[in-house]
Amino acid sequence: MNILVTGGAGYIGSHTCVQLLEKGMELVVVDNLSNSSQESLKRVEEITGRKVIFHKIDLLERDWLEALFRDYEFDAVIHFAGLKAVGESVKIPLHYYRNNVSGTINLCETMAKYDVKTIVFSSSATVYGEPEKVPITEDFPTAAYNPYGRTKLFIEEILKDLYTSDNKWNVVLLRYFNPVGAHESGKIGEDPKGIPNNLMPFISQVAVGRRKELVVFGNDYPTPDGTGVRDYIHVVDLAAGHVKALEKLIGKSGVHIYNLGTGKGYSVLDMVKAFEKASGVKINYRIAARRPGDIAECYADPGKAFRELNWKTERGIEKMCADTWRWQSRNPNGYE
Ligand code: NAD
Ligand code: UD1
Repeated sequence: MNILVTGGAGYIGSHTCVQLLEKGMELVVVDNLSNSSQESLKRVEEITGRKVIFHKIDLLERDWLEALFRDYEFDAVIHFAGLKAVGESVKIPLHYYRNNVSGTINLCETMAKYDVKTIVFSSSATVYGEPEKVPITEDFPTAAYNPYGRTKLFIEEILKDLYTSDNKWNVVLLRYFNPVGAHESGKIGEDPKGIPNNLMPFISQVAVGRRKELVVFGNDYPTPDGTGVRDYIHVVDLAAGHVKALEKLIGKSGVHIYNLGTGKGYSVLDMVKAFEKASGVKINYRIAARRPGDIAECYADPGKAFRELNWKTERGIEKMCADTWRWQSRNPNGYE
């Protein structure tokens, strides 16, 4: 299979490239490197012993995309490229709408023109807004509370409309819960630019001495220890979900929606304790007010992906923390 991977130099994309290459698939990666470094792809080559074809292309540049589709024949596109920082999206919404939504429209127009109609899209549990109960199944109502979340929701709707207009499209919407962890080799992992927004990279930067302390956003939620509960999923399990989706769904047109999560929820303090155990380093933290827009509890019912894709997670929080620590301690400043 020949796959175009957009955003393949990023965190989830690079881990997925490893598995696609290990399965013998042919890849072309495009990325504008706005939130990543080409070094990640060099490391992917080291891990797999295979060459990665890379083009530095911005999805907003229609002509470059056209040239790419003229040069290669693709069977499917895995579409990771997008901006993902919730707080930033509130400050510069138009930039998020242009990058994520217009970038996807450019991509789909080019795909349609060259008759490539299979797309696997990186959606997010954020499309469930504040769920009425947990675990969350794919048929729960959707909502979005910030521009980032709305880009995910709009893109899901755009892709559904595409299928309605032309039943040859094969649209796979993968709704990720909270990706964490790193490749076992310690060569690739999450390398956020600036101050991390998400919990796990923040904890690991405290552990490695780059940050003084973790600020825990609220301990007055209706959860067992009062801190927020999430469904953390090892990025290698998440990457495997993409491979399964491609293998099972290629040639099966339709709109296929899956939660990719473990089905288990852990609190902020559970994660702190697990990380301390895996790293042997004490994580200093202090409790502060809730972060606006946060919800108390969010975890998946991943049963549909198991039944239909034969996919389930295999790595627990001990491994998520151990692999994050291996990556962070060997690369204290990320890919720099
Ligand atoms: P990431 O920032 O590491 O990777 C995204 C990549 O897309 C980056 O390499 C970036 O340079 C590239 N990119 C952005 N805009 C582009 C454009 N216009 N043209 C070309 N390349 C562009 O993020 P990630 O964590 O690997 O996330 C991948 C996808 O999964 C994103 O769409 C994200 O919204 C989604 N997602 C991530 C999470 C998470 O917690 N990491 C959760 C749910 C969904
Ligand atoms: C966040 C985004 C969500 C996005 C997801 C994956 C917000 C409001 N939501 O989700 O839209 O899809 O990332 O990119 O930003 N926490 C701390 N201290 C920290 C960081 C986090 O206590 O420094 C807590 C949070 O309050 C939460 C948990 O840790 O309870 C997980 O937070 P985070 O990693 O940011 O993920 P989400 O909030 O689930």
